[in-house]
Amino acid sequence: MALINLKDLLNHASKNKYAVGAFNVTSINFIDPIMEAAIESNSPVIMQLAEVHFRYLNLEHIAPAIIRAAKEVSIPVCINLDHGKNFDTIIRAIRAGFTSVMFDCSEEPLDINIAKTKEIVKIAHSVGVGVEGEIGNIGGEAVGIAAPTPHEASAESFTKVGDAVRFYEETGVDALAISVGNVHGTYKGEPNLDFERIEKINNAIPIPIVLHGGSGISDNDFKKAISLGISKINFYTEMSASAVKAARIFLNENPDCISYGDLAKIVQADVKKTVMGRMEVFGSKNITASDKTLCISCDESSCGLTEPQFKPDAKTVVYDSLVDLITKEVLQSMRK
Ligand code: 13P
Repeated sequence: MALINLKDLLNHASKNKYAVGAFNVTSINFIDPIMEAAIESNSPVIMQLAEVHFRYLNLEHIAPAIIRAAKEVSIPVCINLDHGKNFDTIIRAIRAGFTSVMFDCSEEPLDINIAKTKEIVKIAHSVGVGVEGEIGNIGGEAVGIAAPTPHEASAESFTKVGDAVRFYEETGVDALAISVGNVHGTYKGEPNLDFERIEKINNAIPIPIVLHGGSGISDNDFKKAISLGISKINFYTEMSASAVKAARIFLNENPDCISYGDLAKIVQADVKKTVMGRMEVFGSKNITASDKTLCISCDESSCGLTEPQFKPDAKTVVYDSLVDLITKEVLQSMRK
């Protein structure tokens, strides 16, 4: 019952000055601890799958598990495709039941990014699925066994306020990922976020803005960024590294271990701890507590999440046949 689309969720976060954590799933063992963390924290949550992580998981196999977990809880859960690069991936995610898709065409010139993102928005919105776009460049998502080489954001790739306005107006995206000193993976030195730019972009466009590359950013910087308008924070590398560290300690302490199930339990407990900690810092903790109200659909304060009045966007349901239709027509036109 609690599947929700990106627009409804982030609009609430934006209005109420908190950020929703978007946690990348790279193993089936991440689903339950992320959900448990959200339930125990009384927090909305975004679970996401990055296209670059398809090497770890099969999109069509994992989606039903995430959707099932999300439907069983009363907190709002958005299922997002992270950094969808290809048209086919976007359609596959919509078809698999994701409630939002990020289309990342940020490496292309702005005109091309706008033209392609606009098409994706048309398709996704026709079936009630939200779209996150990106301008400015944040660099590659963490992938691979070893820690990625630390890097720092180059000011040249920072999102320009004027571009953000044009991108929003011409594409109609529901949320915008911005480049403001944030990078994926590990930072070279201390992250140096351009807070003034965050504030200016937030004041210039009426849609929620998104901070990628959450790992390595300090709690204080998160809080400041949220106070200036960040409503969604993507977080992965630190969660993964911490889980691996916990597994390593466990294996050192239990050299005779042959039980993958027990090892997975260690990983799950660590993921849950990390996610709960982030939810507290992001200010989303207790947003859905029974003494609070979370009315996504209107401004009435009486609309508690557990109340029957709670109505996520009615179009959140994905209509397979419609997607089929769109797929055939649009796939052809986009592949020309
Ligand atoms: P980190 O891995 O740096 O936390 O970034 C995650 C992210 O932005 C996913 O899109």
